[in-house]
Amino acid sequence: MSEYYLLRHRSVASIDHLDVYTADGGFEGYRKAVTSMQPIEVLNEVKSSGLRGRGGAGFPTGFKWSFIPNTIWPHYVVANADESEPGTFKDREILESNPFQFLEGLMLAAYAVQANTAYVYLRGEFWQVAKQLDQKIAELEKTGLLGDAIMGTDYSLHIYTHLGAGAYICGEETALLESIEGNLGQPRLRPPFPAVVGLYSKPTVINNVETLANVPLIIRNGAGWYRQFGTDKSPGLKVFSLSGRVNKPGNYELPLGATFRQLIYDYGGGIIEGKQIKAIMSAGASSVIVPADDKALDCPMDYESTQQLLGAPLGSASVIILDETVNMGWLVGKTTHFFKHESCGKCTPCREGTYWMDHIAHRLVSGQGTAEDIGLLKNVAVQIQGKCLCPLGEFSTMAVVSAIDKFRSDFETLVTHQ
Ligand SMILES: Cc1cc2nc3c(=O)[nH]c(=O)nc-3n(C[C@H](O)[C@H](O)[C@H](O)COP(=O)(O)O)c2cc1C
Ligand code: SF4
Repeated sequence: MSEYYLLRHRSVASIDHLDVYTADGGFEGYRKAVTSMQPIEVLNEVKSSGLRGRGGAGFPTGFKWSFIPNTIWPHYVVANADESEPGTFKDREILESNPFQFLEGLMLAAYAVQANTAYVYLRGEFWQVAKQLDQKIAELEKTGLLGDAIMGTDYSLHIYTHLGAGAYICGEETALLESIEGNLGQPRLRPPFPAVVGLYSKPTVINNVETLANVPLIIRNGAGWYRQFGTDKSPGLKVFSLSGRVNKPGNYELPLGATFRQLIYDYGGGIIEGKQIKAIMSAGASSVIVPADDKALDCPMDYESTQQLLGAPLGSASVIILDETVNMGWLVGKTTHFFKHESCGKCTPCREGTYWMDHIAHRLVSGQGTAEDIGLLKNVAVQIQGKCLCPLGEFSTMAVVSAIDKFRSDFETLVTHQ
């Protein structure tokens, strides 16, 4: 793309400086909203834009905000900056290089639901990012855009950063809330949903960093402008994190609906050493493994198409490319190791199942496995499905089941080449 909107620092140098961001139209949307729009108007504009959550589930953002009841107070907004899915590294780039656009989005979300307190929850490893954000927040307080009586109105907003301790599960929104409250980071039972019983048992909106970075664009330019990008059901722009066996891994900002082929070959420079592409994971380690045939390569990357055409959710669009040099049994060994380590242990199928999947996968990868182990591994994965408290348990089985179904011979190779 010649002009960047989410990765705006690639178009405008030093956009992480408040004066540069402001000169480039930054905070225009926020000023307009707080001084001349009702909160419900802001909410409706975001609803009309069709913006969907970029944290993984693709839930419509405006609808999520509309679930906040006006009968229970106070309201909270939490930005999810946990970014712990292997293969996802888009939020970090936004936070580090285009922080004011993210903060403006968070401020607009808070205004829309009339929250006076917002939190940014960052994974523990992002402590430097948190420090930088604290400085930006202090700058905004000095200018009067944050704090009490903002721009002479009776609206006040305070933003705080909060560091986690590096647990993948704390990206799950209810575990995240537990973590902010100082409890063990384990998911809560739902319902009730955070929109009604959230942080400190009060109505809470939780949105991903990239989701929020879209909001200033919508309020400043209007929902109609925003809908020029993307597809009818998945409007807007998306940052795709491309990694694996490609020549140019990195973040690419494209309209939703661009194809895997465009991402991998036009932007990612194709496969390393001209090797044959073998498979695609569309949503990081939580993905199903999809054989990279023409159907997959020409599939539009939006929330409907990948699911309907490939049976693979787009998730946070962390696209990992595997080529002919990768044995899928080896790859599965990596994902089972990750999920065994990250299972929070609250429910038995996930706690025990991730342990056993990793145990069997390790046996296969280390050349100690038997042909029966392949079926056993799949059987354990299938037994986990549909029985867990939160999606992590389900995620842990995706690569296992799809790899054994589509690339069984890779596992057989591990057995026969002992
Ligand atoms: C195990 C697990 C990990 C997650 N990790 C993240 C994460 O790192 N960042 C994120 O924004 N959402 C993550 N999510 C999704 C959040 O629960 C939540 O849906 C999201 O923050 C909502 O924001 P959105 O509507 O803007 O996408 C995770 C979900 C699960 C089940
Ligand atoms: S599915 Fe796994 S991560 Fe989720 S609550 Fe159960 S044990 Fe914890």
